[in-house]
Amino acid sequence: MTPTKKTNFEIIAATEEQFQIATYAKMNIAVERGAGAWIWTSEGEKYLDLYGGHAVCATGHCHPHIVEALKAQAEKVLFYSNLVYSEIRARAAEKLVSIAPASITKAFFCNSGTEANENAMRMARMATKRKKIITFSGGFHGRTADAISATFLGNYRNLGKPNVPHHVCAEFGNLESVRTLADADTAAIMLEPIQSMAGVIEAAPEFFRGLREVCDEHGIVLIFDEVQTGIGRTGNWFFSGSQLADDVEADIITLAKSLGSGVPVGACLTGDGIAERIKTNDLGTTFGGGMLAMAAVSATIEAIEKDKMRENIAEIEDYLRGRLKEIDEVKTLRGKGGLLGIEFAENCKPIHQKLLENKIITGTSSHPNVLRLLPPLCVKKEEIDLLLEVLRKT
Ligand SMILES: Cc1ncc(COP(=O)(O)O)c(C=O)c1O
Repeated sequence: MTPTKKTNFEIIAATEEQFQIATYAKMNIAVERGAGAWIWTSEGEKYLDLYGGHAVCATGHCHPHIVEALKAQAEKVLFYSNLVYSEIRARAAEKLVSIAPASITKAFFCNSGTEANENAMRMARMATKRKKIITFSGGFHGRTADAISATFLGNYRNLGKPNVPHHVCAEFGNLESVRTLADADTAAIMLEPIQSMAGVIEAAPEFFRGLREVCDEHGIVLIFDEVQTGIGRTGNWFFSGSQLADDVEADIITLAKSLGSGVPVGACLTGDGIAERIKTNDLGTTFGGGMLAMAAVSATIEAIEKDKMRENIAEIEDYLRGRLKEIDEVKTLRGKGGLLGIEFAENCKPIHQKLLENKIITGTSSHPNVLRLLPPLCVKKEEIDLLLEVLRKT
């Protein structure tokens, strides 16, 4: 009997499994290339990516402007640290501050969401000389020590045991629960303004207004973890300062995911009041502010602006909201812009699987009934129709 020849996918998967620690439950595909909202696999199959490469590829896969900017930068210099000045870094910081709410005047660059949150909490503790951090049930802030200790979602916090002390948990959306915890030892209140992993859970705009008042009353730093909501995801550049927050501005905004269109980069944005209290050597990271990442930041902002992606994703949300009403099994659509949770009457795992069989990638969440969509902000109505068609049949 002649042995059957292994597919490219089988060879790739077996090699990854042999040489990588198995930390993720993976889809049975190997990605080879991408364009816009689409990816192609090692077997030449095409998938519609409505999960945006894990909420990262807001500008779509391989947007030509970003690819060009990265190529051009790679030919000049790939990296030098913050020990030197750099035009591309200066431009990226200026651009980021220019699209941020008015109170934001400065950026600190790092490499990931968890690192941005670690640094935000450190900045708050340094600025206030206090210890306590209030975060919320259902919030996710990352996997490093302080960030996982600030995470009160499912089992995540336990993975970080022993946890960093001085973290306490309030109920998302419940201002009274915050008031009972906020005091003169509280350095920061940190939250995901839309809790994505918890199942795209929203709070009323008044909640953010109330948080601002509590923070002002006690001299507490308000941190919005905008790792998912930032950089145009909700149709606004940031949740902070938008109508979704009743125009309330956070003292620190943390970013990652979409910020570099796939090149790893994170950032903390803040105003002069906090920045002035951070001194040389208080914060640092080797790779933060590297030239390739900075080229990606500027190009990402330019691409979103040039292609009117924020306007597009707002239209897409309206379209999807209208069309989902035609499907009885859909209980509700939560979220804003391109951070959406479709809540079904029952567990959505079979629907997620069925969509994958039909070559459409979506995400699940900690809420068993909520299917998450985090599409590229340039996703088209015709592409959303493909999702609707399978949902209708399913
Ligand atoms: C809201 C939020 N904050 C922080 C993080 C951590 O980001 P990273 O995985 O880049 O460390 C995530 C990642 O999913 C996130 O969704």
